[in-house]
This record gives sequence, structure tokens and C-alpha cells, in this order.
Amino acid sequence: MARGSGHGEMPTAQAATAGAWETTAAVRNALVTVRGLTKRFGKRTAVDGVSFAIGRGEIFGLLGPNGAGKSTTVNILSTYLPPDGGEVTIAGHTLRESMTVKHLIGVVPQELALYEDLTACENLEFFARLYDVPRAERAARVRDALERVGLADRGREPVKGFSGGMKRRLNLAMGILHRPAFLMLDEPTVGVDPQSREKIFDIITDLQNSGTTLLYTTHYMEEAERLCGRIAIMDDGRIVASGTLEELLRLRVEEIVAERPRGLEQLFIQLTGKRLRD
Ligand SMILES: Nc1ncnc2c1ncn2[C@@H]1O[C@H](COP(=O)(O)OP(=O)(O)O)[C@@H](O)[C@H]1O
Ligand SMILES: [Mg+2]
Repeated sequence: MARGSGHGEMPTAQAATAGAWETTAAVRNALVTVRGLTKRFGKRTAVDGVSFAIGRGEIFGLLGPNGAGKSTTVNILSTYLPPDGGEVTIAGHTLRESMTVKHLIGVVPQELALYEDLTACENLEFFARLYDVPRAERAARVRDALERVGLADRGREPVKGFSGGMKRRLNLAMGILHRPAFLMLDEPTVGVDPQSREKIFDIITDLQNSGTTLLYTTHYMEEAERLCGRIAIMDDGRIVASGTLEELLRLRVEEIVAERPRGLEQLFIQLTGKRLRD
């Protein structure tokens, strides 16, 4: 599609799912609500009136090309960045209730947040203190987190010797150490080998089975298809379509092509165009 045509000419995708989305049981029972979220960097609007809700126990996918605004959204929900507009609630609390929210949320950031000179255990112990895990529980929590990500026997090694996949898994362990009700994972599989990727998917599925609510950002269509109950496709700071995979595949993006998308990948390209990104 021609990028100049603007978002106003893509009503089909949004209209087709908005109604269904509002009425799903998952949304009535939402743990996370986001309404009209906006963030500007200078003249650039990185997040432009984004709204969605995440049901308890759901894996919600935020799918979009580079620069779509996924990380900015995650960073606002993590309280790292103040929004310019909009409202967010997590279990009924606004982000301004930062001490309460801090204990409800976990973040696995896109950029690895690890101290390379420290061992895996030392990294986790540092985080445990930061997240107020009681002293008596710290050692057990660290062991449990390492176990969950398949690093139980590597805890005493400095992180700088770890492979990319091991670092990604440790990054994930940091996010789940304090057992958050809501976990955000920002492109957690970038640069990892297939074994680590499968392990990460297993961990995510286990977390969902134990009641954790998840926000998962990715630009890999097949990851969103495989993991996520509902998916929002984001581009240029806006959500251009949202719904379950089935709902998305039922869309006909009439402005662009007259046929149903064959898969999420085709829909993604139909909605976001072929322009190369950052
Ligand atoms: N700290 C920042 N300062 C200025 N611009 C930023 C900053 N963070 C992100 N951006 C811009 O905001 C837009 C969205 O970025 P981002 O949220 O990282 O997208 P995504 O995670 O979907 O790739 C991009 O154009 C990016 O260059
Ligand atoms: Mg990002």
C-alpha cells in the first residue's frame, strides 16, 4: 500500500474487530487496560493513541515492524517512561501508584539488562534486593529462577562467558524472579538459537499455565501465531488491527487487496506496507 494514504483510510480492519474485542470475556476480566496512550519524542509521535486490554491469564501479542512503538509502549507500562497522554491500569492501579505497580509487573527488556562481570547468581541476587524479595527467600528464588530457564548448573559463572541464548534466558529469569502477575517480554527471542527459543516458549507457556498474564512483543509473525491468544498489529505508533488470530485472518483489507489474507504474515504486510524500516 502507499504509505502516504494514512491511517484514516484503513477503517476495515479496526471496525471488524473492535466490537468483538470489547465483548470478549477476557477483556471484561482485564488485568491490564490501556486507553489513548500517547508518547512523543520531539516532533515524532512514537505511540499515538493506543488502546487495548489484556485479560487475566492471557498472552497478548504486540506485533509490528521496527519503529512501530512496541518498546515505547512496554517502557511506559513498566513505568520507565512517563506518557504524554492516556491512562493505564494494572489490576486496578494506575501507574502513578508506582510502589504497588512495581511488585505487580515484571519486564524482560529488549536490550539485555545484565552485569557482564557478575555471575548469573549475583545478577539475580541484585535484582531480588531491588524488588524487595525477603532476604530469607532470596537464595531459593534465585535457584528456582535459574532452574526455570535451564541455567541451574551455570549460576556461578560470569555472564560475559554466556552465549546469546543463555543471556536471553537469564534476562528472562530476572523478569520472573519476584513472580509478577503481569510479565512483559520485549522481543525475547531476538538473536537466540532454536534450542533457546524453544526453551523460552516453554517457559512462557509454563508461566501462563501458572496464571501469569503476559504481553509479548515481536516482529515474528509465527511467534505471535503460536503463543498469543489475541494480537494487536502496531505500525507508526498506532494499532491498525487487533483480535484473535482467527478474527484477524477473517479480515479483508479492502483498501489494499480484495482477498482474505492467507496467513498472519500476508495480513501484516497488507496492513503495514512494504516500506523498509529502521
Ligand atoms: N528515547 C527515544 N528518543 C527518541 N526517539 C525514540 C526514543 N525511543 C524510541 N524512539 C523512536 O520512537 C519510535 C518507536 O520506537 P520503539 O518503541 O523502539 O519501536 P519498536 O520497539 O516497535 O521497534 C521510533 O521511531 C524510535 O526511533
Ligand atoms: Mg523494540
